[in-house]
Amino acid sequence: MSGFSISWLDLRERADFAARDKTLVIQLLAWLASPEASNGADPLVVDLGSGTGSTLRALAKLGAPKFVWRLVDHDGALLDEALKRHLKTFLIEDYQADLTVMDELPLGGARLVTASALFDLASSDFVDKLVERLHRQRSGLYAALNYNGIMSWEPAHPLDAAVGAAFNKDQLRDKGFGHALGPDAANYLQQALTRAGYAVFTALSPWVLTAADATLTNELIRGISAAVATGYGLDTVELKNWETFRLAHTTTGIGTVGHLDVLALPAPSSA
Ligand SMILES: C[S@@+](CC[C@H](N)C(=O)[O-])C[C@H]1O[C@@H](n2cnc3c(N)ncnc32)[C@H](O)[C@@H]1O
Repeated sequence: MSGFSISWLDLRERADFAARDKTLVIQLLAWLASPEASNGADPLVVDLGSGTGSTLRALAKLGAPKFVWRLVDHDGALLDEALKRHLKTFLIEDYQADLTVMDELPLGGARLVTASALFDLASSDFVDKLVERLHRQRSGLYAALNYNGIMSWEPAHPLDAAVGAAFNKDQLRDKGFGHALGPDAANYLQQALTRAGYAVFTALSPWVLTAADATLTNELIRGISAAVATGYGLDTVELKNWETFRLAHTTTGIGTVGHLDVLALPAPSSA
């Protein structure tokens, strides 16, 4: 339904986990445990666009205590897979919903809202409405792995820059939320949250793809090549040469795909 298969999400999870900025997670967990954020009960964390539960797994690995997780996704198969993997070991609610229907999103009572690899798909309108809701109920936000448009490859190829620029334009295509923020997602999010009075912290979280990630890199290169094949003025033969060159170096070269993690904490209440 969503175009994100379980196998693709599994494939990227190792690189995603390695890339996540751990300092922001430590700061997030400290805030959740603080008297300011805590009311004594297990915190409710709502993960938007949860897929199979990658954020839950990452935070658990990094020492998160017992949370009540509410996973929200429009893809029922991904939610079923998350439950299959975690229902016996975590407190989980699943909720199948389209995130664009903001008024119906089950955010009530959430001390923290999380998302991974989501906001680059989203629109400015979605961010504005979400920030307004978060602010109203004083929830924190942890949004990891927002693609920031910075991609580099070793060894270099003459078409790298042109392919990267075309890919960044393609990232702006509507992914169901309206015109996508693409590489500008984290900046937009940061500005909207700052305007709403949040303390906002960001950190780079690039994928650094080496031989160990060769299968992921292969899929990524094929995906990039397909995405930019039409509509961006790239010569078909040159693009094929680029793809062949890049695929030939997945076990010997290095690819870097930039992301930015964002942590937003509500201002302490004055009461
Ligand atoms: C790139 S995947 C990331 C999944 C997961 N957070 C992870 O890091 O593995 C984006 C997720 O957002 C979900 N998604 C995309 N558009 C959505 C929408 N309009 N409503 C609900 N979920 C959506 C997809 O089904 C998918 O699970």
